[in-house]
Amino acid sequence: AATMAARTPGAALRLCATVFLLEMAFCKGFVEDLDESFKDNRKDDIWLVDFYAPWCGHCKKLEPIWNEVGLEMKSIGSPVKVGKMDATSYSSIASEFGVRGYPTIKLLKGDLAYNYRGPRTKDDIIEFAHRVSGALIRPLPSQQMFEHVQKRHRVFFVYVGGESTLKEKYIDAASELIVYTYFFSASEEVVPEYVTLKEMPAVLVFKDETYFVYDEYEDGDLSSWINRERFQNYLTMDGFLLYELGDTGKLVAIAIIDEKNTSIEHTRLKSIIQEVARDYRDQFHRDFQFGHMDGNDYINTLLMDELTVPTVVVLNTSNQQYFLLDREIKNTEDMVHFINSILDGTVEAQGGDSILQRLKRMVFDAKSTVVSIFKSSPIMGCFLFGLPLGVISIMCYGIYTADTDGGYIEERYEVSKSETESQEATEESRELQEPRSGQSLVPARQEPKDVLEKKTD
Ligand SMILES: *[C@@H]1O[C@H](CO)[C@@H](O)[C@H](O)[C@H]1NC(C)=O
Ligand SMILES: *[C@@H]1O[C@H](CO)[C@@H](O)[C@H](O)[C@H]1NC(C)=O
Repeated sequence: AATMAARTPGAALRLCATVFLLEMAFCKGFVEDLDESFKDNRKDDIWLVDFYAPWCGHCKKLEPIWNEVGLEMKSIGSPVKVGKMDATSYSSIASEFGVRGYPTIKLLKGDLAYNYRGPRTKDDIIEFAHRVSGALIRPLPSQQMFEHVQKRHRVFFVYVGGESTLKEKYIDAASELIVYTYFFSASEEVVPEYVTLKEMPAVLVFKDETYFVYDEYEDGDLSSWINRERFQNYLTMDGFLLYELGDTGKLVAIAIIDEKNTSIEHTRLKSIIQEVARDYRDQFHRDFQFGHMDGNDYINTLLMDELTVPTVVVLNTSNQQYFLLDREIKNTEDMVHFINSILDGTVEAQGGDSILQRLKRMVFDAKSTVVSIFKSSPIMGCFLFGLPLGVISIMCYGIYTADTDGGYIEERYEVSKSETESQEATEESRELQEPRSGQSLVPARQEPKDVLEKKTD
C-alpha cells in the first residue's frame, strides 16, 4: 500500500476514503443505539454507555473512537456491551443515571454506575471497561501470575491473608476505587520473597519497583490510604493529573521545564526531582508527590503568576497554596533543603483559597479571557470590547456636556427610560456576555467529579 501511495497518491487517498467510509459503517454496527427500553432490558448485562448530545463538539470527537471501542470489545469477545444514548432525547433516563454533562461515559453493572473520567482514547476506555467489569478482587494463585501482573501494572494493590475485617474493608474500598486502580488477593507463598510482612492479614501496594504496607494506625482509613498511594511517586504532570492528585492531599513538587530545551538547566532540574523522589522516598513519600510539567501555561493559570521556566513549584493540593524558592535549585541538597523548610514552615506559602484569592481569580479569569480573545482574533476583540467602550465614551461625553448644561441626572433618567436606548442597552449587554462564555478557553480547574454513584432502580 505504501508503494502504491507513493506512485499514485490520488488513488491511494480515494482508496483510504472508501475504506474509511466502509469502516465507519462497519464499526458503527457494534455500538447499540439505546432508547427508553434500555432501562428494563439492561439488567442482565454489563453496559458501557456513551451519553451524548447531538450538538456537542466533544461528543462528535468521541464518536469514531466509540465505534472502535464497540468493534474491539466485540472482536475480543468481551461480555461488556457497548451502547450510546442521546441524552437529550431520553433525558429522564439519562438523569436517572446521574448524567450531568456531555459526553458522559459510564459502565453500568447491576445497581452500580461507574463514571469514566480518564483520557478519551480507545485503549484507555477499553482498559477501564475490562478493569471495572471484571472481578473486584482478582485472586493471584501462583508466583507466575504475580510476576505477570507486576509486569503489566505500574501500580496495584494486594490483600494477603484469609477472611478478616480488613478484607471486608478492602472489598469496600475496591468497589469504590476500581475505577482508578487494580485490586488483587494472594496467599503469603505467592508474594515475592523480598516482601517481609510483620503482620497478617495485610494490604500492600506495589509500585516504583518496591512495595508499601498499609498500617491501620499510621495511615488511617484504608480507602483514603489507597487514594493517596494509587499514583507512582514520580509522574509527568498535566492539568488532569494535577486535579486528580487533589484527592491525595499531598504536596506536589513539580519541575516546570521546557521538554524541547536540551540545555543543562532544564534537564538537570528534572533529574534533581527524580533523584529526590527516589532517594528520599522513605522520608517524603507520605507527604509528597513528585513530577515534572512541560511548559508553564497551565501552572501560570493555576497560580495566577508568571513563572520563569525552568523552576520548581510545590503545591499544597489541600488548600491550593504554593511555595517557590527565590534561589535557583542546583542540586538534590538544595531541593531537600527546600522541602524541609516547607515542612518546618520557614518558607512562606503563597496563594490559597481565601476570599481575596477568589477575587483575584475572578479578575485573572476575566483578564485572560479578554487576552485570549484578542490573541485569537484581534478584530473580534476590538469589536467586542472597543464598541461598548466607544459607546460608553460617547455617553460619558454626553454626560459631561449635559453636566455643563446642568440637571443632567433627570435627563439621563429620562433618556435611559426611552425605548430606543433600552433596546441598545440590551444589545450591548448581549455582546458583553459573549466573552464570558469564552471562559472555557482558559484551562481552569476541572469540575468536581463523582467517581461512583450507587444507583437503586
Ligand atoms: C533553553 O533554556 C535556557 C535557560 O532557561 C534559555 O536561556 C534558552 O534560551 C532556552 N533555549 C531555547 C531553544 O528555548
Ligand atoms: C497544606 O494544607 C493543609 C490544609 O490547609 C494544612 O493543614 C497543611 O499544613 C499544609 N501544608 C503545608 C506544608 O503548608
